[in-house]
Amino acid sequence: MKVKKAVIAAAGLGTRVLPASKAVPKEMLNIVDKPAIQYIVEEVVSSGIEEIMIVTSRGKTTIEDHFDKSPELENVLLKKEDSTKYDQILKISDMANIYYIRQKEARGLGDAILCAKSFVGNEPFAVLYGDDIIKSSNPVCKQLCDTYDEFGLGVVGIKEVTREQIKKYSSMKVDFVRDNLFKITDMIEKPNDDQILSLYSILGRCVLPPEIFSILEDTSLGYGGELQLTDAMKKLAQINGMIGVDFIGTRYDMGNKLGIMYANVEFALEHDEISEDFKAYLKNIVKNL
Ligand code: UTP
Repeated sequence: MKVKKAVIAAAGLGTRVLPASKAVPKEMLNIVDKPAIQYIVEEVVSSGIEEIMIVTSRGKTTIEDHFDKSPELENVLLKKEDSTKYDQILKISDMANIYYIRQKEARGLGDAILCAKSFVGNEPFAVLYGDDIIKSSNPVCKQLCDTYDEFGLGVVGIKEVTREQIKKYSSMKVDFVRDNLFKITDMIEKPNDDQILSLYSILGRCVLPPEIFSILEDTSLGYGGELQLTDAMKKLAQINGMIGVDFIGTRYDMGNKLGIMYANVEFALEHDEISEDFKAYLKNIVKNL
C-alpha cells in the first residue's frame, strides 16, 4: 500500500533551545528566510504526500498561521506587482492539506504520534520530527516510502553517530541487507554504555504501519517518564522486523543551538540571493579566527 499520509511531530517543549523557544516554537525558528517546519512540509510534498497532520501544542499557533492564507499580505504584494514574492507566499498555503491536532501535554513522541490515530486510520504513514531538517536531492521521506513499498515493513531512517551521541539518541541492532539497507530486529532508547546495540541511530524520519497505534496503546511510559516511540517500534522490530535506511542526506538538528547555526551557515552558502555576499563575509571572519 502506498504511503499517502504524513505526521509531523511538533509539540515538544524545546528546552534545549531556550530562550528562543519560549514564545516561538522551535519548529518555527528560521533557516535563513524560512522556518524549519516549512522545509519539512516541502520534503513531504516532494515525496508525493499531500495529506499532512502536524501535532502541535499550546503556544504553537504560529505554525498554523504560517501555512494559512494571508490575504492582506497577498494584496500588498499584488499592488506592488512583486509576483515572485506573491507566488512564494501563496504557495506556502497551497502546498498540501494540512490538519492540526494538539497534544495536550508533552508526554513524549509516542504520545504525540498516538494523537494522529484517527487521521491515519488503517494505512501506513510517514513520521517526521519537526525539528530535524534533512537536505537531500532525493527527499529522505521518499527514500523511506520507496523502501516501505518494496518490503512492506516499518522503515526507519538511520545514520551512524558517535558513542557520546548514541547515548542521547536510540541504538539499533542491524543486519546488513544490501546497499544502504539493514534489517532491524531490536532497538533501545537512550542506551547506557553496556546497552549499545550499534552506533546506528534513528534520525528524524520513519514510515510505520498502522499496527503501531495498538502497540503504542499497550506500551508503558519509558525513558524520562514519556511514552517513547522507540519502545513501540522495538516491539514492531521484534515481531516483524523493520528496515533501516542509511539515508542519503545531511541532517541538521534544529533542537540544539549548534545544529541551528550549522543549518543557517550551510543554507546561506547556497542561497540564491545572499550566497556570494555571505561567502565573502565568512572568508573575512575566518581569517581572524
Ligand atoms: P525532542 O525530544 O527533540 O523534543 O523530540 P523536545 O522534547 O522538544 O526537546 P527538548 O529536550 O525539550 O529540547 C523530537 C520531536 O518530537 C516532538 C518535538 O516537537 C520534536 O520535533 N515531540 C517531542 C512532541 O511532539 N511531543 C513530545 O511530547 C515530545
